[in-house]
Amino acid sequence: MQIEYVKTYDEMSQKAARSVAQQILLKPESVLGFATGFTPEGMYARLVELYQEGLIDFSKVTTFNLDEYVGLSPDHLQSYHFFMWDRLFGKLNISKEKVYLPDGNVEDVQKSCLIYEEAIQSAGGIDLQVLGIGPNGHIGFNEPGSDLSGMTHVVELTPSTRKANARFFDSVGAVPQKAISMGIKTIMNARRILLLGSGSGKWDIIQKTLHGPITSMIPASILQLHPDVTVIIDQSTTGLK
Ligand code: F6R
Repeated sequence: MQIEYVKTYDEMSQKAARSVAQQILLKPESVLGFATGFTPEGMYARLVELYQEGLIDFSKVTTFNLDEYVGLSPDHLQSYHFFMWDRLFGKLNISKEKVYLPDGNVEDVQKSCLIYEEAIQSAGGIDLQVLGIGPNGHIGFNEPGSDLSGMTHVVELTPSTRKANARFFDSVGAVPQKAISMGIKTIMNARRILLLGSGSGKWDIIQKTLHGPITSMIPASILQLHPDVTVIIDQSTTGLK
């Protein structure tokens, strides 16, 4: 693991965007894995700037997002489809056919998981997967106790994750109870991983993830076993003074 501590959220976002840009420059037809949430928003804004400055071209890039709620339509303001098109895809020259997010707005969500996993395989696997980390050490929606060898699957969201995500909805009750998430194995299959650590109160969980025992109770700790992980930690928000 290559671990970098930076002083601000902006510095983290800048470095992360450069890493993604480098991946695209070296391999224009890269397959990228993206996350939603507060953590990567700054990185997406920097990527849009790099694109507007003519430095990167997304026309050959394929993307797969980590997760999506079950039961929200793609145009729902809190769906991850909406988030990604609003913050990133809608501002780039990416082709719509090359953008993939799990489809949780269907009758057969189990089938949707299989289709998603097959699409990742057909694209040749993920070259670079960007991750945030939850306050309980989750990655994607892989909550503590998740199967460390799991592929894309339907997840029952824990009360703590629903509570954490309630800030985006009218109430906790409005947060969907289920989501589709890439599994830990899907994530571990990515050739490179970029883990971004940002958000108040995450200092302890990040330290346990990076230096503690590998345990399904801290799903992100499995990343210690991945051969090519870069971690960028924003000290200003995680709690280190
Ligand atoms: C979202 C995702 C989640 C978030 C995590 C951190 O697609 O995969 O695992 O990365 O919940 O969220 P933020 O960045 O909002 O603190």
